[in-house]
Amino acid sequence: MYKLPKAGTYELAPSILSADFADLAGEVGQVVKAGARIVHVDVMDGHFVPNITIGPVVVKWLRRCTEAALDVHLMISEPARYAEAFIRAGADHITFHIETVDQPAEFIKYLHGLGVSAGLTLNPDTPVEAIESAAALCDMILVMTVHPGFGAQEFIDKAAKKCVRVRRIVGPDVRVEADGGINADTIAIARDYGADTFVAGNAIFGQTDRAEAIKALKKAIEQNRP
Ligand code: DX5
Ligand code: ZN
Repeated sequence: MYKLPKAGTYELAPSILSADFADLAGEVGQVVKAGARIVHVDVMDGHFVPNITIGPVVVKWLRRCTEAALDVHLMISEPARYAEAFIRAGADHITFHIETVDQPAEFIKYLHGLGVSAGLTLNPDTPVEAIESAAALCDMILVMTVHPGFGAQEFIDKAAKKCVRVRRIVGPDVRVEADGGINADTIAIARDYGADTFVAGNAIFGQTDRAEAIKALKKAIEQNRP
């Protein structure tokens, strides 16, 4: 019933953070045509992270140009204050940071009640125990593999390793999404740790040919697959 593809497949989630914001429809069109079924939308408030990006109005216009699942990653201090606006604008999936919410289980139920799939994420320095109690309610757990705030940073292996423990907690039916520093070299590392959903900003929109970039990432996912 949710737009987020059911667990059991590997999916790329191109992050528009590195896209041409003057041509978002064209950019999204290219990656969807190349096979992406999820589009990752990085929302930053200049408070929880030192950068400001996208509000509900952008999601509203993205919604009009694609059927792909809009995976909205809220890097904001008060997700409860804004989540509904993003859902009304057309978000399909909402991820919020465990560092920002006191009662994560209640918030996930609230998001489900608004008709979207939902999930938690944790910063590289936050231990997996922090998300453990609410993990079973999530449709996808996002593991930050860089410190949130900017695109094109270097993959933090130690943070990615948390996918192993997360996967053990949630089992095979919940997506585990790795976010930050994913490229053709790191994507298989995240896969081997248990991730099945891979956010990629710079590795797709930072490249001249988006279709080629997606092809290279897909090939890297398939290489030496367990
Ligand atoms: C980081 C964001 C990421 C980021 C990924 O704060 O949450 O989604 O855009 O970008 P790359 O793939 O360039 O590291
Ligand atoms: Zn993100």
